Amino acid sequence: MRILAIETSCDETSAAVVENGQRLLSLVVNSQIDLHRAYGGVVPEVAARSHVEVIIPVIDQALVEAQCGWHQIEAIAVTKGPGLAGSLLIGTLAARTLAWAKQKPLIAVHHILGHVYANWITTASAQLAVSNLQLPKKSPEFPCLALIVSGGHSQLMYATNHNNWTVVGRTQDDAVGEAFDKAAKVLGLPYPGGPSIAKAASSGNPDQYQLPIPKTAGPYDFSFSGLKTAFLRSVQKECGVGHDFPSFELSKGLSEAQRSNFAASFQHIAIKYLVQQTKKAVKELQPQSLIIGGGVAANKGLRIALTDQLLIKIDYAPPLLCTDNAAMIGARAYQQALQKVFSDPDQLEIKPSWPL
Ligand code: KG4
Ligand code: ZN
Repeated sequence: MRILAIETSCDETSAAVVENGQRLLSLVVNSQIDLHRAYGGVVPEVAARSHVEVIIPVIDQALVEAQCGWHQIEAIAVTKGPGLAGSLLIGTLAARTLAWAKQKPLIAVHHILGHVYANWITTASAQLAVSNLQLPKKSPEFPCLALIVSGGHSQLMYATNHNNWTVVGRTQDDAVGEAFDKAAKVLGLPYPGGPSIAKAASSGNPDQYQLPIPKTAGPYDFSFSGLKTAFLRSVQKECGVGHDFPSFELSKGLSEAQRSNFAASFQHIAIKYLVQQTKKAVKELQPQSLIIGGGVAANKGLRIALTDQLLIKIDYAPPLLCTDNAAMIGARAYQQALQKVFSDPDQLEIKPSWPL
């Protein structure tokens, strides 16, 4: 079964054709990073406008690259939420219109489940335009534990089959990607913060600044707001200024070496914490497979630390499938198609906040 999938929940306009939930025939991702960089973060109105401009060419390109006519597409999948309302609207309107015009079943996908199912993509067609996509050798097995770490979510999810995913640990406040983005802003590093921190950290000393490891009541929960504040205080202290000194002025007082050391110290503690919580969950829940997804899962240091410190073998999805993309939506949609979970194109509404 070939599914045309569409993802527009934040600042990437993406379309893909996925076969049987695991074979990638095409993937087009139009990133808006350059548009938002000047503002230091995603501007929702700018994001929505850009989705409007590129959604049709992105979908067309995905079909052309997949060498696939409409008669070969059996369903259309789209992210229904969570995400930015204006962004979600563009993707769902496109999907609803196409489902109606082309008379195809419509499948509405939860964005976080999409991140989980990026790990089910294990093969790609020879004509795939994206090169060097190092895919996992085989699909994850159940019971399965998933660490989902993105700009909006930090959670541990568990399932014994495709249809019973439950959240076993969630963030009590901010997401880890948000903390990476905030730390980068304080250091004056460019948006998006995650890759900037990772780059600066590579030449820094992770033990230079001592940051506290967060604590939560739930054994597998997360919390990042305290770490964000501790990081800001540590930079203010190093710069010799008080707590009321504006955070956007701080980076001017830092040398290149201090910036790298701060990036390395922050990344070190964030990774240590993610690994610590995941390790506890693996020990207790004894999954057959551990998978990771979401933008922060692209972080090399996190991958190395998980591989080194957990006994369970992890087959990582390539970074392109960890950050927002439509392939993951197509992979999840296939499981919903098997269960005949379809949506009415006349009725489908977005869900900007959508708990699992
Ligand atoms: O999954 P994603 O693309 O969008 C959301 O659903 O939020 O995740 C975006 C987040 C951003 O916070 C970005 O800074 C972070 O993922 N990120 C990274 C890396 N690449 C992206 N964080 C750490 N290391 C990276 N290499
Ligand atoms: Zn995402």
